[in-house]
Amino acid sequence: ITGVRGIIAYRLPSLPEAAEFDPFDVPYQLDPAEALRWFREQEPVFYSPKLDYWVVSRYEDVKAVFRDNVTFSPSIALEKLTPAPPEATKILEGYGFAMRRTMVNEDEPDHMERRRLLMDAFLPENLEKHEAWVRELVRDYMDRFIDKGRADLVGEMFREIPMTVALRFLGVPNEDAKELRKFSVAHTLNTWGRPSPEQQLQIAEDVGQFWKTAQTILDRMCADPSGEGWMYDSIRMHNRHPDIVPESYLRSMMMAILVAAHETTAFATTNAFRTLLSNRKSWNDICENPALIPSAIEECLRAAGSVVAWRRIATEDTLVGGKKIPKGGKLLIVQASANRDPRHFENPDEFDIYRHNSAEHFTFGYGAHQCMGKNIARMEMRIILDEFVRRLPHIDLVEDQSFEYLPNTSFRGPTSLWVEWEPAQNPERRHH
Ligand code: HEM
Repeated sequence: ITGVRGIIAYRLPSLPEAAEFDPFDVPYQLDPAEALRWFREQEPVFYSPKLDYWVVSRYEDVKAVFRDNVTFSPSIALEKLTPAPPEATKILEGYGFAMRRTMVNEDEPDHMERRRLLMDAFLPENLEKHEAWVRELVRDYMDRFIDKGRADLVGEMFREIPMTVALRFLGVPNEDAKELRKFSVAHTLNTWGRPSPEQQLQIAEDVGQFWKTAQTILDRMCADPSGEGWMYDSIRMHNRHPDIVPESYLRSMMMAILVAAHETTAFATTNAFRTLLSNRKSWNDICENPALIPSAIEECLRAAGSVVAWRRIATEDTLVGGKKIPKGGKLLIVQASANRDPRHFENPDEFDIYRHNSAEHFTFGYGAHQCMGKNIARMEMRIILDEFVRRLPHIDLVEDQSFEYLPNTSFRGPTSLWVEWEPAQNPERRHH
């Protein structure tokens, strides 16, 4: 059978399933891991003609690609998946848009040198000092709806907290948050979406505005670089090592980091709540024993991560999972699929907060470029869950709500999440 299949595969550049695969179709948008189930078993590395990408779906193959960032360069990580029409390019030019390499799409040796210089603020021991104000922020948001009995957690909380945390971590004043949030959605669709030609124009306008606003904020900060926050650290490093941290990097990073920090964490938190509340026993377990929260978070990131696919480009002819990839071949590495590979995770479709290896998920990537902000995201999720299991353990998902997703390949989470509860049962009331 293998022989026959081999011949068919040889004659046809791609199997019918591969020819049909389109990440913008409903199945992938609904559940990327499920949409790749057949491929994971039958054709784990395949060429998708509709996308012009090689799709990688198994755990070991995804790991091998992440691990070798020289053969598999991240330079295309932020490339527009859907090319812009000339009118949109013109709009962006009008704004002087010149997004260059940041960190996530930088090749070696520049990347590592820069990453080392800028890593300090992200280390767990340096994040501890942020915990108290993050908790205060979380409690403050909860206070606004705790007596209402019903809330859209995304609109009323999760969409805002990661942006506020990111801005404060960066040292950027919060007054610009609302505008910046709107723009960062445009950046996601611009980079990983398939906007129609008309949408491209609006998106180009928003991305241009985002670029301009980021530049204005940066200019303000550069004028007095003595402030506190990671963007100030970067500005000071730029002043000391302009060769390693050039100005083009500062501008691009100012925009990219907000997207990196905001939507990823907002979606991850939303997915975690949806998953835990749909698995009531797990939710009840963490309510009874909040010490389980960190491992529950890792299982949520594995089973319902917020970054589901990332990109690399082959810098030479090479092999992935035994499949030949030509130099210049673009790869869509689907972390959501790897995270459900039974070769690595036993009963991968089961949600199990006691799983011993949940933390080996690829939602934060892997290797030299692994997410620098992973411990910030984990801290936010931990504090939010901790406050909910104590103050609102009796929340439940509103039944029959529909979930909408921003159509794109990589960032995944519903745009609203409605929960309800009986305020009279709030532990804080019962204790008084
Ligand atoms: C890189 C995911 C939150 C900053 C990445 C990458 C992924 C990712 C997949 C690329 C990894 C690779 O190429 O191997 C996530 C997820 C988050 C999250 C799922 C939330 C749940 C954050 C936050 C920040 C941040 C809160 C900053 C405050 C960065 C930076 C990089 C990065 C700077 C580039 C690292 C490098 O290339 O060396 N993230 N991220 N991320 N992330 Fe995150």
